[in-house]
Amino acid sequence: METSYTKLDEISEQRYSQLVKKVQSSPWRQCYHIQPVTGLLNDPNGLAWYNGFYHLFYQWFPLGPIHGIKYWYHLRSKDLIHWEDFGVALAPDRDFDSHGVYSGSSIEKDGLLYLFYTGNQRDEDWIRHSSQCLATMNKDGKIVKEAAPLIPGPPLGITEHFRDPKVWKGRNGYFMIAGAQKQTQLGTALIYQSSDLLRWDYRGELDVPWKTKAFMWECPDYFELGDNGILMLSPQGVETEESVNTNIYESGCLIGKPLNEETLVFDSDQYQRLDYGFDFYAPQTFLDPSGRRILFGWMGLPEIQYPTDRYGWAHCMTIPRELTIKGGRIRQNPVKELELLRKESICETIVLEDAGYKDPGFYGRQYEMKVQILNQNAGMFEINLRQNKQEQTTIRYFSKDRTVCIDRSISGEVFAEDYGLLRKARLERELEEIHIFSDESSLEVFVNQGEVCFSLRIFPRETGVETEFIAKEGWVKAVIQKWDLKV
Ligand code: FRU
Repeated sequence: METSYTKLDEISEQRYSQLVKKVQSSPWRQCYHIQPVTGLLNDPNGLAWYNGFYHLFYQWFPLGPIHGIKYWYHLRSKDLIHWEDFGVALAPDRDFDSHGVYSGSSIEKDGLLYLFYTGNQRDEDWIRHSSQCLATMNKDGKIVKEAAPLIPGPPLGITEHFRDPKVWKGRNGYFMIAGAQKQTQLGTALIYQSSDLLRWDYRGELDVPWKTKAFMWECPDYFELGDNGILMLSPQGVETEESVNTNIYESGCLIGKPLNEETLVFDSDQYQRLDYGFDFYAPQTFLDPSGRRILFGWMGLPEIQYPTDRYGWAHCMTIPRELTIKGGRIRQNPVKELELLRKESICETIVLEDAGYKDPGFYGRQYEMKVQILNQNAGMFEINLRQNKQEQTTIRYFSKDRTVCIDRSISGEVFAEDYGLLRKARLERELEEIHIFSDESSLEVFVNQGEVCFSLRIFPRETGVETEFIAKEGWVKAVIQKWDLKV
């Protein structure tokens, strides 16, 4: 029987097809989200536009729904929607990555795509050793690993929690930011610099005034948007104001002036949570040829069991989102290419006064829906999604404090209940628009043109297709448009 450190090439083809079959028998398989053929998917890695294609890699453990020995899995696409499957890109086949090819990023140079990743190694005493490593991919898709890590270990004062290199081209050469933990058990980010992507000088810790007790900063990503410098990160152990009913870990970003490449000062203490839903972590961004900053996130969380585990698989990616900045805050909206999935559409203007409304035209499982509020004076407006006789997922808006809530207490099979079954976020302005993407076992909700988003998995026990709109304590006038999606 396999363990979490059994490698793919140690099992027979027959055993692998058994694993695939088990996954294929699963309810809740997604229809337009990236998901693993078997086993567990986590972070997006190495996102790039290279050689005429979008490339996405992800963290993969093939043999079951656990965080075992990790691989990079490779997909590519012309349009961010339809993906070609290239299977394993990087396997844990060297001493220095023998216990996992961990997360990282990519950058193009001289016609090659440089893939930076963390080599995770355990010694005989099970002590972790982390190094930052390189592989390059050429235009034929051939991937070659460097013989030795470029950065063999953490600098002084840093524990072996040292990983997730993100590389970009700055004003004075190439920079790498890596997530780390200090000997004092506090999270941090380290900066390295290089002129050729091969030899890296340690520059020091990022100097950021933001105060947090987070014990590890995973998956840092630095980029510039307009005149702003943005540090996206997945800080573990961050304490937030909304500390009740919150996720085990969260991802957020700091927004400030661009990084000072001389002093490493990144002057920001403006932390913004990136997603208010239940299942979102370790996002990564990249720049596409038209200059858009595009994000993919892992629609899942570490250390949580999911109902699909018993069918041998776990998790999926979010849909791609375009990032913009407005009023000093990041906005996230589905990329335009998602319109390629649209089929028939239905559009209606409804006026509801202390009443509920259903129309089978708005039913479905794989759909996109936009609800635009034209006018309202209701105390509460509610949309029940993916409803059957016993189950539904509710989006609820309270005008009094401009709060949007997502309730998954009766969405289907209950899981992660220790972390609460309700999430909420407060809007800057009144509710104007709710934009929803529903797939077999997920909902992604973008409110007021991406001011707030919620990503969540749901596991209805019976097919849930109905949609119900309810206004209470007043009336709501809204335009609802829904598209069935090609799957
Ligand atoms: C984040 C993370 C990364 C690490 C990878 C391992 O989810 O823990 O820090 O590189 O996953 O799969």
